[in-house]
Amino acid sequence: MNRPSYFLLGMAATAMMFVACTSDPNAPGVEYMPDMYRSPAPEAYVDYGANKHVDWTQAQKDAAGIKPVLVREPVAGTIPYTGGGAAAMFVMPYALANTPEDYERAAMEVKSPILPMKDHVERGKEIYAIMCTHCHGKEGHGDGAISKNGHINGIPDYATKLKDLPEGKMFHSITYGKGLMGQHASQLNQLERWQVVQYVKCLQQGVSNPEFDEKGMLKLKATEAPADSTKQ
Ligand code: HEC
Repeated sequence: MNRPSYFLLGMAATAMMFVACTSDPNAPGVEYMPDMYRSPAPEAYVDYGANKHVDWTQAQKDAAGIKPVLVREPVAGTIPYTGGGAAAMFVMPYALANTPEDYERAAMEVKSPILPMKDHVERGKEIYAIMCTHCHGKEGHGDGAISKNGHINGIPDYATKLKDLPEGKMFHSITYGKGLMGQHASQLNQLERWQVVQYVKCLQQGVSNPEFDEKGMLKLKATEAPADSTKQ
């Protein structure tokens, strides 16, 4: 460095010293990197202008895959807790593992959190029609279209082979899949799985068109009077 440079540097340093001091004892003076002393507190979901596409419509942003800059993705494993206590019950992780032991436990420990009310059973019937009939058949006899293609054999009849299958095992099998049946947990949320279980329970009784009483509760099939062997 030559002399004039030293001189300029000295001038600048002196100037800085004067600028840095003020008469107000509480003033912090000039801060070079205020972010380092006082961290900014940006609100999530607020666009502070860093997103250069602010003048775009939401549709244009969606089409280009542009997200607001400050929105953070929830961490993996985040449980969406919305809708209060009753709704939250259906988003808690399913406690049992995909093991033969836990399949047996499901029979005893996993109980339906919903009653066989009209809304639930009818929704279950809709889901069944869309996602299960092609294998299990309209009435649940295991005779859906796919059962005839020679690849998926042994689809059981609910009303005979699975007549006594407990609801907990049904839920477990729909959640994890069983044998040639794939898992349905990624397509059906827990409430939907329980709704379809409620409908499968009707098919177990041989009822594909369930009826309901005036309170909206499933009418149980009238049990047939046992044959009277003493009758002449
Ligand atoms: C790809 C064909 C296929 C589809 C689709 C399918 N299943 Fe199955 N399902 C099977 C087969 C095969 C079995 C027998 C599994 C075994 O025991 O090895 C079975 C078994 C079951 C069982 C008895 C499970 C147990 O624990 O014994 C239930 C309940 C059931 N399915 C319900 C459903 C419901 C509800 C749906 C629709 C959401 C569905 N399945 C969709 C093929 C299918």
